[in-house]
Amino acid sequence: MQANVRQRFLDDYVKIRHAEGRGSRESDYYFALPYRDVTGRLQDQWTIRGKSYRYLEKRVLAAIEKQFGRPLRIADLGAGNCWMSYRLALRGHQPVAIDILGDPLDGLAAGRHFQQVTPFLRVNAEFDDLPLAGNSLDLAIYNASIHYSTDYRRTLAEVRRCLRPEGSFLIVDSPVYRRREHGEMMRRERHQQFQATYGFASDTLQSLEFFDEEMLAELGRDLGIHWRIYRPWYGWQWAMRPWKARWKGKRPPSRFWILAGRFAS
Ligand SMILES: C[S@@+](CC[C@H](N)C(=O)[O-])C[C@H]1O[C@@H](n2cnc3c(N)ncnc32)[C@H](O)[C@@H]1O
Repeated sequence: MQANVRQRFLDDYVKIRHAEGRGSRESDYYFALPYRDVTGRLQDQWTIRGKSYRYLEKRVLAAIEKQFGRPLRIADLGAGNCWMSYRLALRGHQPVAIDILGDPLDGLAAGRHFQQVTPFLRVNAEFDDLPLAGNSLDLAIYNASIHYSTDYRRTLAEVRRCLRPEGSFLIVDSPVYRRREHGEMMRRERHQQFQATYGFASDTLQSLEFFDEEMLAELGRDLGIHWRIYRPWYGWQWAMRPWKARWKGKRPPSRFWILAGRFAS
């Protein structure tokens, strides 16, 4: 990524994230994630994120832990404030939190809150160019982050280089649509909303911003990925969203599936 593009993306991103009320000066805020937003500002979002993470621990991570039978070397890619690296370290693993954002409220520097309880590595780097040795990871997790990629093939080829043959990667809390046109509508709506609210569209990076089912099949075929799809239950209100959207004549909402990918050797 060119340095000036990266800087413009980060400037826009931080402006929006701070305006949305993310982050806190208090450590309590970070320790309560992903289940509770102690500021109360974005509790609805964190309720969903908490459900995804609880499901991930119980249904996905537990099986991977059993497969290896030892602490895992895990990359938390697009780690943000590092809450997930902290949770993974508490489970006895060796996470490395990687992000291009160093921000003290919302980026890697916020990970300082956790260091006295359980230290882990934090590295400022792009997920398309990981400063990690080949075959060095058991697991890579993109939590609400891979949809910032501008090219999933390049991003996933880089993680394939770093994963051991028996390793795998997980995509959590990234929007998945049945059809591409619905994802493209969502992207246009978001940019219009940013333009109206902040005076810029936040589109410097040309992020892909979503997956669709055809895209997943193409990536699987081209990169030799075997996908396993998990569908967490987020409650009745969430389950009713597609029906409500249809009733109102709107595009279908995204789904937050957990995608587990394994590369054919
Ligand atoms: C929505 S936040 C998610 C943060 C965290 N994983 C979480 O679950 O709260 C997305 C993160 O991806 C990071 N990101 C975006 N593009 C990236 C890239 N190319 N390489 C590494 N991180 C990136 C952003 O800086 C941001 O911290």
